[in-house]
Amino acid sequence: MRTHYCAELTAALIGKRVTLAGWAHRRRDHGGVIFIDLRDREGLAQVVCDPDRAEAFAVADRVRGEYVLRVSGSVRARPAGTVNANLKSGEVEVLAERVEILNPSVPPPFQIDDDNLSEQVRLEHRVLDLRRAPMQRNLRLRHRAASAARAFLDAHGFVDIETPMLYKSTPEGAREFLVPSRMHEGNFYALPQSPQLFKQMLMIAGFERYYQIVKCFRDEDLRADRQPEFTQIDVETSFLDEEAIRALMEQLARHMFKEVLGVALPDPFPVMRYEDAMRDYGVDKPDLRVPLKLTELTDVVKDVDFKVFSAPANTADGRVVALRVPGGGTLTRGEIDAYTEYVKTLGAKGLAWIKVNERAKGAEGLQSPIVKNLHAQAIAAILERSGAADGDLIFFAADRAAAANACLGALRLRIGHERGLAAQGWKPLWVIDFPMFEYDDESKQWKARHHPFTSPKDGHEEYIDAAPEKAYAKAYDMVLNGWEVAGGSVRIHRQEIQQQVFRSLKISAEDQRAKFGFLLDALQYGAPPHGGIAFGFDRLVALMAGADAIRDVIAFPKTQRGQDLLTGAPSPVTEKQLRELHIRLRTPPQ
Ligand code: AMO
Ligand code: AMP
Repeated sequence: MRTHYCAELTAALIGKRVTLAGWAHRRRDHGGVIFIDLRDREGLAQVVCDPDRAEAFAVADRVRGEYVLRVSGSVRARPAGTVNANLKSGEVEVLAERVEILNPSVPPPFQIDDDNLSEQVRLEHRVLDLRRAPMQRNLRLRHRAASAARAFLDAHGFVDIETPMLYKSTPEGAREFLVPSRMHEGNFYALPQSPQLFKQMLMIAGFERYYQIVKCFRDEDLRADRQPEFTQIDVETSFLDEEAIRALMEQLARHMFKEVLGVALPDPFPVMRYEDAMRDYGVDKPDLRVPLKLTELTDVVKDVDFKVFSAPANTADGRVVALRVPGGGTLTRGEIDAYTEYVKTLGAKGLAWIKVNERAKGAEGLQSPIVKNLHAQAIAAILERSGAADGDLIFFAADRAAAANACLGALRLRIGHERGLAAQGWKPLWVIDFPMFEYDDESKQWKARHHPFTSPKDGHEEYIDAAPEKAYAKAYDMVLNGWEVAGGSVRIHRQEIQQQVFRSLKISAEDQRAKFGFLLDALQYGAPPHGGIAFGFDRLVALMAGADAIRDVIAFPKTQRGQDLLTGAPSPVTEKQLRELHIRLRTPPQ
């Protein structure tokens, strides 16, 4: 239907006859001459319809926004002064000889190049939203990223194997989506949270290197970086140890960034232990673009008068920690109050601070609501350890360690980015040596931090039952600019250790059989040492695209409330459908 894409029209084609096909992006009637900006997937071209060509002109006169057109004409240079340097085809225009309307359009709800649309409008009219240049760019970038991943994995001997979507309900962490079975009354499939156990069974089956770019489903609270269905680059290998798996997977990440963005990520990635990440950054996915680190103070404020500090400092799981803000002395009371309100939304009780006016003068040179309650030794240690200089401000959090970390970890990021302290570019790292378990206050039970198939560090098997808090795992996360982009582990390949872990998670022998019998059985038949990782593909692409939310790199995403505003899912079903599935609703659908 066409000879060229719009963006292919350059001065080299002047005098040539071309045929274009696409959408009427804009139409301008300049009293006698009609200009149409024609848009196709590669870009725009200007079409000029002159009244001399009566037939083409008459058709152009009827054209409105988003009409689908085919235009034939000759390419000519734009008159001097009308060249558009922002367009690939900006030096030329097409003098239309023939204009065909392939399909008209009703008036669209917004102009396609409008970039001030609400999320609601965009998702309701996703088809039109996807016509917008940034979305065209994002989805094509996503495609290139997937192709690059496949090329790398194919070249390294990985085999793409599909795994079931109708799966068995197995507690792996998040809440599952269930699918009722028509043929087996009262029974349900679950949609997989990940292909975790299938990929392990493929290792036991001898494939050695597996990958899949695959949908995963988790019915969890949604955020900017979380969707109920999302995509992983899911990988598993046999006969590679933790370091070898990480080395191969960072090579994959480097390959993708090189291919898609032309960016050379560092080689090798820095490696940070989980405990060090929590100590220095308060989070397990530090954004290393922000150069600030937290300062440990728990040990130096145990005997100060200020109870806000001394109480948590003397509690087993308490922590007192500081964040130095370089140049923060210029922060106004209003700004400090705003930060205080911010950390309160994260559960903090307050946000103590000290302004360092003249460090040489000791307590005299400080301005703060709390120094009067701190003794000289503590003050000296605070200044020394934080490295505070004149003109700096120090914020403090004192609480249970988890709360203090959450508060200053988030404040560090916000201040770092707001005050222009963050470096440009890409800061990947590995976070390793995660604890195997974490204690869940709600259920009063230990839970697997990664998943229950993760291997303990060598020698930590003995802690699994006796002292779960001491057991560390061969688990690793890849972090990029503060986003957890991938997570994986070496797996347990010995049946008795797997059973030991299930036991410490309080999964009874019967439940082990009922839920994981297939895994325990497979582990008996010579399971090779194996391990792998899964990249959050949407997150990776969002970072590459510079998008704030993964919704912007997913063609048809859900809202924060899990709805698809385009098709209207989820939606009620008929009584007949429910009856076939042997389901009666407790309450009518809302
Ligand atoms: P994990 O649960 O850490 O590991 O998930 C791997 C990566 O997937 C991404 N991710 C998500 N992205 C968007 N929306 C979500 N709701 C969501 N949840 C997770 C993250 C995360 O790092 N089977 C293991 C992997 C393994 O051990 O090999 C797993 O799924 O980027
Ligand atoms: P108060 O003694 O309650 O007046 O608090 C004195 C200062 O300590 C104020 O700046 C509070 O914001 C701050 N503060 C209160 N609780 C905490 C806490 N748990 N961690 C850090 N600072 C706090």
